[in-house]
Amino acid sequence: APDISLANVRAHLSQLETIARQYGGSRTAASGGYAASVSYVEQKLKAAGFTTSRQTCTSCSGQSQNLIAEWPHGDANQVIMLGAHLDSVSAGPGINDNGSGSAAILETALTLAKTNPEIAKRVRFGWWADEESGMRGSRHYVNNLPSAERSKIKAYLNFDMIASSNWGHFVYDDVASIKAVFDEYFATLNVPTEGDSEGDGRSDHASFKSAGIPVGGLATGAGDIKSAAQQRKWGGTAGAAFDNCYHRACDTLSNLKDVPMDRNSDAIAYAVWKLAGAGTTTPPG
Ligand code: PHE
Ligand code: ZN
Ligand code: ZN
Ligand code: ZN
Ligand code: CA
Repeated sequence: APDISLANVRAHLSQLETIARQYGGSRTAASGGYAASVSYVEQKLKAAGFTTSRQTCTSCSGQSQNLIAEWPHGDANQVIMLGAHLDSVSAGPGINDNGSGSAAILETALTLAKTNPEIAKRVRFGWWADEESGMRGSRHYVNNLPSAERSKIKAYLNFDMIASSNWGHFVYDDVASIKAVFDEYFATLNVPTEGDSEGDGRSDHASFKSAGIPVGGLATGAGDIKSAAQQRKWGGTAGAAFDNCYHRACDTLSNLKDVPMDRNSDAIAYAVWKLAGAGTTTPPG
């Protein structure tokens, strides 16, 4: 699988932070900052050759929109879907929560387009509206999928907060075979992981899991406190929250950590290439 450029991920995050600053300091669902975030991601995808679609979430604050993009290669009946919520809370710009997941899957999509590998399955990407008031965007998307479409989604991978300042490496443990793919990547780095429990039921994967779709994902921790054992495992500060700026105004690019951002971006690419059966050669034509 390709290396995902940390510099490019940081450039996306910088743009999201600028957008928040232009719109009163946040990118909350009903705001201009959210709409501008959707436009930013959409324009990057379009420039790379993706066909994108916006879905108005009628149950979301401000009727905010989900953004969906599918890479049009591979078996359309077998879909690997990646998702991240693109809204923030109103308190701040939401760069770790969840610019980090949003930028990582955006750069993964752009890298998929650029490398154009032979690929067995479809890869689809979703940027969700209004996660912060109850996972409304992803719920709306799943509720509006016909059951035949639901069953085509072989895995949904969620990324919400993946570059926390006092990070851990948590892998969703809902489905062992999906967790194993991420763990395999972290093993190559000699980085230990733990099953995620803080995020259980608390992000957009819950919408998919409720519909019987296999889910997985990564997280680096939110408001939970790092234990002494976790400090020995990953470094950082025991007795402090994984992200001291969780849902605060200080959730900015300067509070975001490059080490977990880079590892997790590369882990995402590894998992996508593996789960979607992507080769390393460019198909002719
Ligand atoms: N869904 C939570 C939020 O956006 C974030 C979260 C993710 C919390 C994972 C715990 C674990 O605020
Ligand atoms: Zn990298
Ligand atoms: Zn949040
Ligand atoms: Zn979040
Ligand atoms: Ca992780």
